Amino acid sequence: MDEQKLQDAIANPQNLGEMPDADAVGTVGSPDCGDMLRMWIKYADKEGRKVIDKASFQSFGCQTAIAVASLATQMIQGKTREEALRLKADELSADLGPLPPMKIHCGQMVEGALKAALEAESATAPLPTPAPSPATATGPTLADSLPGAAASSGRVKIVFDT
Ligand code: FES
Repeated sequence: MDEQKLQDAIANPQNLGEMPDADAVGTVGSPDCGDMLRMWIKYADKEGRKVIDKASFQSFGCQTAIAVASLATQMIQGKTREEALRLKADELSADLGPLPPMKIHCGQMVEGALKAALEAESATAPLPTPAPSPATATGPTLADSLPGAAASSGRVKIVFDT
């Protein structure tokens, strides 16, 4: 791993911070160390192609993750969603050189957050979920006819009118 590049990226991380007008956000936690990373993406239309206009991140994690996330948010600018989805952790962190074994998951966490954000965007493309309506399909009949049983079973979802 290139310590100097790591130190540079940590000392001056790019694209750090929330993006209030983002189109998509993805968050992952690392099962290896409990750190977390969140990534925001904003798209733009460039010559008829939908590309990543900018990306930002917030890290509740180690310095390697911050350095890789900083590089990744710069690397994906101008790429399409499909191009960005193809990037693997070792490509995102390539500028730092090979990560030591105990830091490989840091790069994978960045890849995970990036993919979560890229996939979140496609998941939000369909119609938004309608507001939940109070238990229409299931509960009321059963709950009304068997209030004692329903309450004691602990499996009926109680919906309060607001
Ligand atoms: Fe776990 Fe880097 S993200 S040590």
